[in-house]
This record gives sequence, C-alpha cells and structure tokens, in this order.
Amino acid sequence: MQRNEILTWLRQTDPARLSELWQRADQTRQKYVGGDVYLRGLVEISNYCVRLCAYCGLRAGNQNVTRYRMNEDEILACVHEAFQYGYGTAVLQAGEDPGLDGPFVAAVVRRIKRETPLAVTLSLGERSDKEFHLWREAGADRYLLRFETSNRTLYEHIHPPRPGTTTSDRVAILHRLRELGYEVGSGVMIGIPGQTYDDLANDLELFASLNLDMIGVGPYLAHPETPLADPRNRLPAPPDEQVAADELTTYKVIALTRLLCPQTNIPSTTALATLNKATGRELGLVRGANVVMPNLTPPKYRQLYEIYPDKACVNETALACQGCLAGRITRLGRTVGTGRGDSPNYAERVTKSE
Ligand code: 5AD
Ligand code: SF4
Ligand code: FES
Repeated sequence: MQRNEILTWLRQTDPARLSELWQRADQTRQKYVGGDVYLRGLVEISNYCVRLCAYCGLRAGNQNVTRYRMNEDEILACVHEAFQYGYGTAVLQAGEDPGLDGPFVAAVVRRIKRETPLAVTLSLGERSDKEFHLWREAGADRYLLRFETSNRTLYEHIHPPRPGTTTSDRVAILHRLRELGYEVGSGVMIGIPGQTYDDLANDLELFASLNLDMIGVGPYLAHPETPLADPRNRLPAPPDEQVAADELTTYKVIALTRLLCPQTNIPSTTALATLNKATGRELGLVRGANVVMPNLTPPKYRQLYEIYPDKACVNETALACQGCLAGRITRLGRTVGTGRGDSPNYAERVTKSE
C-alpha cells in the first residue's frame, strides 16, 4: 500500500468508504490467519517499575501505587488456570522490574514448560541481552515490546532515560530478540499527545519493514497521575495533524496493520475495550484482529496494575472473562482457537531461513 493511501485512510471520515476498509481487513484476516480467535492468558506478575514513561500509571515516580510482585507459586497457579480454560499461551507481563531477576524468570519459564504445554510470552520491558538469552534457553517462545512511536523526538519526550543511561533503541532490541529465535511482537499507542498522522503512517510502515509476528495497538488513555495528563507537558502538534486517541482511529490502525502485515497476530486490546466496553473487542475482531488477551491476574492484584484508569475487566474474575469472551467470539461466527496459535508469519520466516 502506498503511503498516500495509508494517510488517506487515517484521515477518512466517510462511513461508506470506511466500511470498505473494514471489509478488506476482515477478508484479509480470514484469508491469512483464518476464523480462529486465539486467547492468551495474561498474568500481570509485578507492577514495580524503574522507568518514568510519561504516560503510564505504573511509572516509578507514581507514589500512589501499592506495589506487588507475585511469587513463583502464585504465577504457576494462574498459568494452570489458563491451561484449564483451554488457552494455548500464558503471557507474563510486568513493569521493568529488576526484582524479577534473570534466574527467577528463567525458573518460572522452566516450570511452566515442565508442567504445561503452553507457549510462553514475556513482556517485561527492556532487559539485558543476557536475560533475553537466558529466558529463551529456559523455553520462552515470544517477547512483546512496543516501540510506542517511531518519532524519535516524541519517543524521547515521553521516555526519559533511566538515570545514568542514554535513550534506548527499542528497534535494535526487537532485532536482537529475533536473532535469539523469539516470536517478536511490538506495537504503538494511538493518539499520544504530539503524535501526527505522518508519525502514525511511519509507525505502520515500520510494522511492515520489521516483519513483526505480533502487533498490538491501542488508544492512549490519559492517567491523571502522570506528567502527560498535564497539557503543559505535551509536545504541540498542529491541530489538524494531532492523531485522535479514539475508537475510530484505533480500528483504522488495526485494519491497516492487517492489510500491511497480513500474516501477523493482532490482538483486540484491553485499551480498546476500555474505550468501548460493550462492543470494542468485537469490532476489533471484525476489523482485522485475531487474538484476545483475557486477564488472569488474581483479583487482589488486578486493580493495582493500573497503567491507565478504568481498565476493562478490572473487577471481573478470570472465569467470568473466559465465559464472556467465548460467548462473544461464538456470536461473531468465529471459533475459539485451540493449541498455541503461533504466528503464521513466524512459521514462514523460520522455514525460509532453514
Ligand atoms: N494509555 C494507553 N496505553 C498505555 N500503555 C501504558 N500506559 C498507557 C496509557 N496511559 C501501554 C503501552 C505499553 C503497554 C503495556 O501499555 O503501550 O507498552
Ligand atoms: Fe514501566 Fe512499562 Fe509503564 Fe513504562 S509503560 S512506566 S516501562 S510499566
Ligand atoms: Fe472480561 Fe468480558 S472479557 S468480562
């Protein structure tokens, strides 16, 4: 797809034209990844974080968060629950928490692999090469690290480096993860203050050139206890250039991602479901997405993992979400995927390099 066409879609407001985009995305999804919707059990294993991302409620600077870190047995109990519900993957997510040290995470991954057939996805932030290596050796299958925005200036504005370090290069980390044999996922937030349509078109082109296996996108949601919630801390964008952090733009990005990266796994994200609790997840699934990530974090920790306010399903149990999602998927005429649901994109690039 030409860049001009991407930009035209991003700015499109005519519902009749947009329904063409939704149809093309849905057909492409059906053709390349089929009708199965894969469920990934998400376990938010720690809300400690050393970083200061300007948008995130878990940032180190936020003193109003009660911090928790799950122990090995607590994590394993959630993973076993995922297996009982028929989910094929456990996703272990956390802030950038040095307390989750290399050997601890490796031991958890080994135990999951010993006790269940599940694929393991890690989403633990920017970690050392040594740790990525150790975790891959322990059996981790996939790693998620969003690059958040391809605009360097905006990236640096919202990601102050850790004291004593220089700004990170997440694209370089994604390349490294790939060399280590991980299935690699990334993504962006939509409507970050200061993000323009040009930036978002660049993000989409970067998805394609990185040949990602998984791509997660969601709207930026302002968290009142973060610097970016205060307009004085925002990078200005010309008014008609600023990307809207809304539902419609999120669907456009999901649909365009599917057209540009037909074989990739795309979740219909919790941030989208937060904007439209009634039908956001479903609309994501019929406009390009093929994955959902039900939350398995124990209720006592769940509300403490507040990256943005009013997160969907914060008061639901894992069992409630399981039933709710299976129903929603079936009502769309889709099927709940069984097995690991590896990315067809990964399968293809691994075969090619053999
Ligand atoms: N609004 C939307 N998404 C957010 N994330 C973090 N903070 C916010 C927010 N305020 C997203 C980031 C991160 C992912 C785990 O959650 O994209 O990569
Ligand atoms: Fe930490 Fe991730 Fe939040 Fe940044 S986005 S503050 S790394 S939890
Ligand atoms: Fe959690 Fe519907 S997915 S209640």
